[in-house]
Amino acid sequence: MSLQRITAEYAASLIENGQTIGLSGFTPAGTAKCTPAEIAKKAEREHEAGRPFRVNMLTGASTGQSGDGALSNAHALDYRAPYTTNPDFRKHVNCNEINYSDLNLSNMATQIRQHYVPMVDWAIIECCEYEEVGDKVRIYLTAAGGISPTVCRLAQRGIILEKNAFHSPKSMGLHDVYELETHPYRTPIMITKASDRIGKPYVEVDRNRIVGVIECDIPDEARSFKDADPITTQIGQNVADFLVHNMRTGQIPSSFLNLQSGVGSGANAVLGALGHCPEVPNFNIYTEVLQDAPVGLIREGRVLSASTCSLTVTNDCLRGIYDDIDFFKDKLVMRPSEISNCPEVIARIGVCALNTAIECDIYGHVNSTKICGTKMMNGIGGSADFASSAYLSIFTCGSTTKGDAISSIVPFASHIDHTNHYIDAVITEYGVADLRGKSDMQKAEALIEVAHPDYRPMLREYQKLAAKGGGQTNHCLSAAFAMHDTFLRKGDMRLTDWSEYVK
Ligand code: COA
Repeated sequence: MSLQRITAEYAASLIENGQTIGLSGFTPAGTAKCTPAEIAKKAEREHEAGRPFRVNMLTGASTGQSGDGALSNAHALDYRAPYTTNPDFRKHVNCNEINYSDLNLSNMATQIRQHYVPMVDWAIIECCEYEEVGDKVRIYLTAAGGISPTVCRLAQRGIILEKNAFHSPKSMGLHDVYELETHPYRTPIMITKASDRIGKPYVEVDRNRIVGVIECDIPDEARSFKDADPITTQIGQNVADFLVHNMRTGQIPSSFLNLQSGVGSGANAVLGALGHCPEVPNFNIYTEVLQDAPVGLIREGRVLSASTCSLTVTNDCLRGIYDDIDFFKDKLVMRPSEISNCPEVIARIGVCALNTAIECDIYGHVNSTKICGTKMMNGIGGSADFASSAYLSIFTCGSTTKGDAISSIVPFASHIDHTNHYIDAVITEYGVADLRGKSDMQKAEALIEVAHPDYRPMLREYQKLAAKGGGQTNHCLSAAFAMHDTFLRKGDMRLTDWSEYVK
């Protein structure tokens, strides 16, 4: 007998207050969309009736409006991990309405296995196709690997499938599904180059664990990117020049490194610029999120192969991949996040990690997540998975944001996600701060040189105050956040008088 057809409303009716859902996808790409939206509606009805209704939600990474957006607006989220980008979610989490746990994405599936996060009741999985083979069902995922294999295996109550016709069944075969064993029985992961395949192209589950199939046709809730501007283009050029110089000096191999590129408009623009630099040889990508720019580079032959967790691309770009699937099939491989982001593989195959910083302090500590130390932007994502294990770890950022009212180089980062031990270079439109082999005080010299010219005198002024305190790494603790404080009070970080901060 074929799997039962169900509606999203019916699926949502099964989910009870306090239960935990685990979704397919990684970023809005490949995320199950119908059921979460219906759960949000159910929450609104329950709240109107005066009954409590909140769920815990685990995913590979962020979701879109039908997930984090609708559920947070409906006050339906109790616990959430590990990453989000949705503006509505941001609003609610920054009021402390949601218990949000920001985790390294490589670790999410492991934390589910270890029961460090709530146990999964329901796996809600988007697929482009499924095959019934005896008492098993083979699930062909859509635009992301995420945590699907783990939540399918561990969901205590069952699996809800969303078969989304937007994703062409022609994409069957893009995934390499492989799940890590539990400790202490883990075996080596036999990936030695980006294009290696070690698993199966589907997630296999027992047929009796599938509650039913929802048929739908919904585009991915993809975000569009801001176009490259003169600043991101200059940063891209500075990255390319730095890498070419490193090849010439033998600091990176002449055959180049696998590239990882972070998330957002900046990262998209940097990778685009890198691809168009003639001195950078054709390269491979080992990353978690493949955006539009590198897909274009695969078409141009500049990128030879790409390993990723998700195709976080615009819908036009995704359709283009499906239309040319014969071209892409041997060049693209999608993996679960614990493999795409696995620090052991990253350290072994040699990756140049390119991530974006919100701010970086003069000693090279990077904040990727919290505006002014308190307001969550997106989360750490996979940036630490890559930065901590990369052969060469680079953070990029524009030297200022918000019309120059905020400097990205500050005396003391208001929150630290990446310590300077894992950061080899910080690159802005003003150049490269090469931090390798430098003491903290030498790092400060290099970093102030790539700050915006308006802010360099201010940072030098801070150095003078800090020097009075002495120590191996100078700081004046009462003035360390003076620029942030000035921004919070006056809407602009530029301060001329430090005296009120010197105690
Ligand atoms: N203070 C206040 N706001 C800041 C800021 C700062 N120091 N730095 C950036 N912002 C704001 C920008 O003004 C912009 O606001 P807007 O949306 O209102 O225009 C927003 O943050 C995004 O910045 P933008 O310059 O457009 O960068 P981006 O799209 O390249 O994203 C990150 C940058 C850091 C938010 C993003 O890369 C991220 O989420 N990183 C963490 C996860 C990660 O690195 N994952 C990749 C691993 S593979």
